[in-house]
Amino acid sequence: MTTLQQAEAADHALIEELDRLVIVKSTIYTSGERDPREPLPRQQDKGKLYLMGHDPRLPRMPEKPALFDFFRLRFGPAAHMLQSARLAKKNGVDEKIVLACLIHDIATSGFIRSDHGYWAAQLVEPYVDPEVAFAIRYHQVLRFYPDESVGYRYPDSYVRLFGADFKPEPYVERAYQYARKHRWYMSARLLTVNDLYSFDPNIHVELEEFTDIVGRNFRQPAEGLGFDDSPSAHMWRTINWPTRYL
Ligand SMILES: [Fe+2]
Ligand SMILES: [Fe+2]
Repeated sequence: MTTLQQAEAADHALIEELDRLVIVKSTIYTSGERDPREPLPRQQDKGKLYLMGHDPRLPRMPEKPALFDFFRLRFGPAAHMLQSARLAKKNGVDEKIVLACLIHDIATSGFIRSDHGYWAAQLVEPYVDPEVAFAIRYHQVLRFYPDESVGYRYPDSYVRLFGADFKPEPYVERAYQYARKHRWYMSARLLTVNDLYSFDPNIHVELEEFTDIVGRNFRQPAEGLGFDDSPSAHMWRTINWPTRYL
């Protein structure tokens, strides 16, 4: 078979597999586009099975996926995180914080955008130093508050994105006040300092640049992320298999 024939055969197999399956989107994927209280439009499911594993439209993950497999096969473009991590390294911050920069926005690029710092912290908490999870969790709120002592100003991009009148809600203010007094405040603050507002499309950073830092600071479970029964294993499984029926 030629390469073209192989590609056509693969396409054909995918279409046939999809024909046999019912794939239902989780409410959260469409809430807003549609009113979540409305019943889902009924799909033709006669003679079909509901998807209970790998979604054939996605690249297949290894059986024991590691962090970089998620970067390569499930996360969106990671240039922002990679460039932030490189900047942190260049600025000579502790390598724990370099790791925090490398993974701080994994929720926006691969899971859930709203409250992304909290989701990302929860995802990685079982595998990293508590200080790393703290920095990731609180970068979410610290981004809204300047700290002159380290040259961090309120981002111009936030004025553009959210308007000049945008005010964080009281729960954000409370979380900021809590973080401000915490002994790990500066770790979270350094994450915001190295969290690039705009990244340079001409700089290319490879994940491999951080293999050693991840090796030393992220405890990859032998069973693979999602299969180690940790408190966040189910979240990694959902990223791996986002359309499982149950
Ligand atoms: Fe972020
Ligand atoms: Fe970021």
